[in-house]
Amino acid sequence: MAKEDRRILYGRRRGRRLRPERARLLDQMLPALALEPEALDGDPADWFPRPVRALWLEVGFGGGEHLARQAATHPEIGFLGCEPFLNGVAKLFAVIDAAPDGAPLDNIRVFPDDARTVLDRLPDRSVDRAFILFPDPWPKARHNRRRFVAPPQLDALARVMAPGAELRLATDHMDYLRWMLFHCLRHNAFEWLAQGPADWRERPADWPPTRYEEKALQRGTACVYLRFRRRPDPAAAAPD
Ligand SMILES: C[S@@+](CC[C@H](N)C(=O)[O-])C[C@H]1O[C@@H](n2cnc3c(N)ncnc32)[C@H](O)[C@@H]1O
Repeated sequence: MAKEDRRILYGRRRGRRLRPERARLLDQMLPALALEPEALDGDPADWFPRPVRALWLEVGFGGGEHLARQAATHPEIGFLGCEPFLNGVAKLFAVIDAAPDGAPLDNIRVFPDDARTVLDRLPDRSVDRAFILFPDPWPKARHNRRRFVAPPQLDALARVMAPGAELRLATDHMDYLRWMLFHCLRHNAFEWLAQGPADWRERPADWPPTRYEEKALQRGTACVYLRFRRRPDPAAAAPD
């Protein structure tokens, strides 16, 4: 049995019944924009209708606000978004559908399922930037092991990310923040790019907000933004 078949996906796949318009978009757009697991083994350049310079990956894009804004700002980049919650996928499709004819968002593909399957299958060094923004915090101690930012996923990210690629994480949950820092800082593939408090307290200008973040800020909850760089492999480093 493949590793991906044995996994439990925690969280919802469906929420409230979709409005008919959203349900129609999902039916129409999924076949065109969703990747089958087998496609993930191939060359990401083949997923898009025109050449792209690099691949950026978003894990758990929610309603796709950040993904769509990044894709509109960077038409030269191909984006892969993973989100098993189909209501969120439908929301992203509504944004893509509403894009003006002159600037279609043709640089987004989705995997409407567990991002761990994507991390298992993508080619080595194929991802130039990865985003995991406000992953589910699983606050109870007995649920901590469900957290996405954890050694198996960091190992997989280290494999699929190109040397020098950036990993962006965000959370409003201070225990998950400590957990993220603990696991990322002890992982030898990742180097934290922060130089001072402003680097984690303020969202960089090229980092659009997400819905979860906006709700946290409205409640008065502080959010933290982390940027890590995938280190070059030691074997590839220049000799002294
Ligand atoms: C707290 S929400 C944040 C959504 C969005 N990033 C935002 O900031 O608004 C976490 C998201 O991660 C998704 N998620 C949970 N486990 C996942 C997995 N294994 N692969 C991909 N997405 C996952 C959930 O469905 C949910 O939409």
